[in-house]
Amino acid sequence: MDLLLLEKALLGLFAAVTLAIVMSKLRGKHFKLPPGPLPVPVFGNWLQVGDDLNHRNLTALAKRFGDILLLRMGVRNLVVVSNPELAREVLHAQGVEFGSRTRNVVFDIFTGKGQDMVFTVYGDHWRKMRRIMTVPFFTNKVVQQNRQGWEEEARHVVEDVKRDPKAATQGVVLRRRLQLMMYNNMYRIMFNYRFQGMDDPLFNKLRAANGERSRLAQSFEYNYGDFIPILRPFLRGYLKKCQELKDGRLKLFDDHFVAAKKKTMDQLGSKMELKCAIDHILDAERRGEINYDNVLYIVENINVAAIETTLWSIEWGVAELVNHPEIQRKLRQELDTVLGPGVPITEPDLQKLPYLQAVIKETLRLRMAIPLLVPHMNLHDAKLGGFDIPAESKILVNAWWLANNPAHWKNPEEFRPERFLEEEAKVEANGNDFRYLPFGVGRRSCPGIILALPILGITLGSLVQSFELLPPPGANKVDTTEKGGQFSLHILKHSTIVCKPRA
Ligand code: HEM
Repeated sequence: MDLLLLEKALLGLFAAVTLAIVMSKLRGKHFKLPPGPLPVPVFGNWLQVGDDLNHRNLTALAKRFGDILLLRMGVRNLVVVSNPELAREVLHAQGVEFGSRTRNVVFDIFTGKGQDMVFTVYGDHWRKMRRIMTVPFFTNKVVQQNRQGWEEEARHVVEDVKRDPKAATQGVVLRRRLQLMMYNNMYRIMFNYRFQGMDDPLFNKLRAANGERSRLAQSFEYNYGDFIPILRPFLRGYLKKCQELKDGRLKLFDDHFVAAKKKTMDQLGSKMELKCAIDHILDAERRGEINYDNVLYIVENINVAAIETTLWSIEWGVAELVNHPEIQRKLRQELDTVLGPGVPITEPDLQKLPYLQAVIKETLRLRMAIPLLVPHMNLHDAKLGGFDIPAESKILVNAWWLANNPAHWKNPEEFRPERFLEEEAKVEANGNDFRYLPFGVGRRSCPGIILALPILGITLGSLVQSFELLPPPGANKVDTTEKGGQFSLHILKHSTIVCKPRA
């Protein structure tokens, strides 16, 4: 017991000295740092602000300290940006300076210290990865080649739900079936592969592994070891779990999908016809542009960045439509009038459906899946809003607050798609307005927007065309309590939805 206390005291002392050195170094540079709560030795502001730095807590801090503020979380500097002008500075004007990503002990494991694309620093590797991924994933050609597949997957969802006798009475957790749909949408693009159904063992293995990856990475549980490096030995168990999961997941992707393709590529070389995304990625590997690990990390990135975010947004959209029956009715009316009753929605129809587009924009505004964007980072000392930003600070752009600040939006707490047809008619999801950045903007913005928007449109459109979406018996609303993570936001309780087929 005494030994343990002694060990803790020594650790504390060591950490205090480390922080004192860091702070004296910063002071020595005569930095004019952004305002923020007064840090205490070792812990900085950690004990004052706590672990859960979600978009709402950061908004409360911005109201106290201003649109740019600094938090010291142990040895880490965290800068929070909360107005459109500063967002423009970070993402656009100084997009190179602030275009890197922070990682932490856990993300280092899951990304092999930035061998992927999403979490790598801004530089040659990122540029190469983004270029290699563009043709197989992020072009209009990809949308045109895959949109019938997405329409088909949405029809399968409708058929399966109609077949489930409980759906129209007690209701079903619609998300579960939509999750299978999202896996199929993305695995068709990646590997030309579809899972057979909810009981497909491979689907369930992947779902579990990806879910655990999200949980471990987004949790606040490991903050202490990240903020105070001397405490890292206490994280050994957690990091071991992450490492095993990461190895298992990459092996799963390799054994079931990538290795066989690689073998064919090795046999056929440049004669291989490039049919799905992985063929293009392996072709880049064959030409020596990237290595085999990079290939697996691309698959890893798509599994997380594409499937989860889009699924969360669909789930939020369904919840808001259930809780706003008049909006749901108006949307159904638009679908019936423009397409004709019972005519299934297709991707080319989306441009004729302004109200559907407004519903999607409003969902992404009020319920932003990545409300703080993926954290940015400056590799070198930088200036922002008249302040000095020490090198390697984590920069959080509070995109949720930019899109929910009553100073910039009329009654932002209301779910009102009409705003995007009226006073905000010119605002698009692609970042043409720095108040509304659900996909970020600039160099590190989401390249998947080109796929996400049509998938959202086809899915929500199909559901509303086919069903009256209602809360479960006995409730008049679904619970929309939020669950945030390091930078994610989803619904806490997956809602049970009654899906009453339309006559
Ligand atoms: C509704 C669905 C989605 C939302 C809300 C969303 C949102 C975002 C956001 C906010 C970022 C970070 C922007 C920044 O840091 O400045 C991001 C990055 C990224 N997203 Fe998405 N995303 C979605 C769907 C997708 C899809 C479908 C894909 C792939 C097919 C994808 C791939 C990526 C990638 C690769 C990055 C990293 C870009 C980089 O670091 O250069 N996302 N996304």
